[in-house]
Amino acid sequence: MIFGVLNQKGGVGKTTLSVNLAAGLARTGVRVLLIDADPQGSALDWAAARQGEPLFSVVGFPRPTIHKEISQIGQGYDHIIIDGPPRVTDLARSAILASDIVVIPVQPSPYDIWAAEEVVKLIEEARVYKEKIKSVFVVNRKITNTAIGRDVREALAAYPVHVLQASLAQRVVFVETAAQGQAIFEVDAAGPAVVEMEAVAAELMEYVNYPDLKVGA
Ligand SMILES: Nc1ncnc2c1ncn2[C@@H]1O[C@H](COP(=O)(O)OP(=O)(O)OP(=O)(O)O)[C@@H](O)[C@H]1O
Ligand SMILES: [Mg+2]
Repeated sequence: MIFGVLNQKGGVGKTTLSVNLAAGLARTGVRVLLIDADPQGSALDWAAARQGEPLFSVVGFPRPTIHKEISQIGQGYDHIIIDGPPRVTDLARSAILASDIVVIPVQPSPYDIWAAEEVVKLIEEARVYKEKIKSVFVVNRKITNTAIGRDVREALAAYPVHVLQASLAQRVVFVETAAQGQAIFEVDAAGPAVVEMEAVAAELMEYVNYPDLKVGA
């Protein structure tokens, strides 16, 4: 399965979701490749900051030909995650075409909801060439104990993209682990961020018809 984690809006959690989803999948024993399609190279930086054994492979491919080369690059892997770039439309378009499912992290703010229109448009355009591309929104950085998360889900329902029930809250463990090149489950295996991440991954897998693969179990 090829997951493209995309949103042209910057800083919404594409890399955070990509590395933790990749780590959660790798933990189940499947072979996972993370393709860093962002010229900023954040996922590569994450991998370089890591001490000890890598959890999964990371390669940089910030070129608008991913869709043509993905079958070569991804040979031998069970799952591929593409960490998409902000802004650069030709790269995003290529990453969308390469994906079976586009996962769109979105923060609970009106600006993010409006900005999501851009990536939704690209997905609609890509469907002309690749009819079966799936897409989901994942609400990220929800502030706990507020109704904003629920409101954002309602607002996102206006787009022709499925909204996952599960979401991720704003939690420092994401920032702390990023600096060390770690996944969240490595430092706080039973913490709320891990529980939420597992729920997001499980719902995602169910959506793409991989219900038997229990991420992070
Ligand atoms: N749920 C969260 N809780 C706390 N911090 C978070 C969360 N998600 C992301 N962050 C932090 O927000 C910042 C931006 O996240 P990230 O780099 O994953 O976004 P991005 O969409 O990949 O950004 P870019 O568009 O620049 O590639 C990072 O410092 C990250 O650690
Ligand atoms: Mg990023």
